[in-house]
Amino acid sequence: MQYVLSNKEFEMFRGLIYSTCGINLTLSKKELVKARLTKRLTHTGIDSFNDYYNYVTKVDKSGKELIHLIDNISTNKTDFFREKKHFDFLNTTLLPALISSKEKSKNRKLRIWCAASSSGEEPYTLAMTVFNHIRPDNGWDVKILATDISTRILQKAIEGTYKMALLNDVPSGITSAHFSKVLVNNTNYYKAKDHLKSIITFRRFNLMTEKFPFKHPFDFIFCRNVMIYFDPETQRRLVAKFYDCLPKDGYLFIGHSETLSKNHNDFKYVQPAVYQR
Ligand SMILES: C[S@@+](CC[C@H](N)C(=O)[O-])C[C@H]1O[C@@H](n2cnc3c(N)ncnc32)[C@H](O)[C@@H]1O
Repeated sequence: MQYVLSNKEFEMFRGLIYSTCGINLTLSKKELVKARLTKRLTHTGIDSFNDYYNYVTKVDKSGKELIHLIDNISTNKTDFFREKKHFDFLNTTLLPALISSKEKSKNRKLRIWCAASSSGEEPYTLAMTVFNHIRPDNGWDVKILATDISTRILQKAIEGTYKMALLNDVPSGITSAHFSKVLVNNTNYYKAKDHLKSIITFRRFNLMTEKFPFKHPFDFIFCRNVMIYFDPETQRRLVAKFYDCLPKDGYLFIGHSETLSKNHNDFKYVQPAVYQR
C-alpha cells in the first residue's frame, strides 16, 4: 500500500523523534522517514501517518510502539575495528598506561562505557583489545557497559552472531581466538566466545536521559558516530554529562567525523577524535 506523508505529518514525527532521542532530522530526510515508518504502518495495520502518530503518542500507553518507531528510525551502521586508530591508541598508549597505574595502586578494575554500541561490533572490538593486555580471570575485574537506545539492535548485540564476511578484515588469529564458527540454517556464522561476552553488559539507555545514573566513573568512554545526528546544543549537554562520568584524566573517544568545539566543553584535545578530561 502507498501511504502519503505530508510535510505537517513529517514535522510531527520530526518533533517526536527529536524530543525522544535527540536525532535531529531535516526535511531532506522526509523520504527516508517515510520509508522506515511505512514498515510500522504495514505491521500495525494502521492506514495513515496521522493515525499512526496518534496511536504512538496517545493510544499506546505501554510505549512499546514508540520503541519500535525509534528502532526503525535509528541508523545502526557499525563495524569491527571501525576507525582503527582508536584501537591503536588503546593498544600502544592508553591501556598500557592505565594497567600500569592500576597495578601500582592495586586497583585492578577497568570500567569502560561504549555508548551507542549498535549491534555489538564496537564493544566486542573493545573486549578483544582489552584481552591483548590482560586476562580478566587473572585478578582483573573488567566491565564494559554497552548501551544503545534501540532494543532491536541490542538483541543482535547480545546474540553476538555475525556473518563471516563482517570479520574478513580481522586477522584470522584474532577471530579464531575470540569467535567460534556456528552453523545457522546451513550458513556459517561467527559467534562471540563466552570470555568476550562475560565482560560486556548490554543495556538499553537513552543518551538524552537528563541525569546519568552511574555511581562510579568510567576509565574511558566510546561515543562514536551518534553525535552527528544531534544538534549542537544537544551535543554540548551530552558531552558535559560524559565529562561528569569520567575521572580526572579519563578519556572520551568520538567519531572521526565528529568534533568537540572548544567553547562547548572542558576536555583537552589529545589526537583526532580523542579527548581527555
Ligand atoms: C551509526 S551507529 C554507531 C555505532 C558505533 N558507535 C560505531 O561508531 O560504529 C549509531 C547508534 O546510536 C544509537 N542511538 C541513536 N540515538 C541514541 C540515543 N539517544 N541514545 C542512545 N543511543 C542512540 C542508534 O540506535 C545506533 O545504534
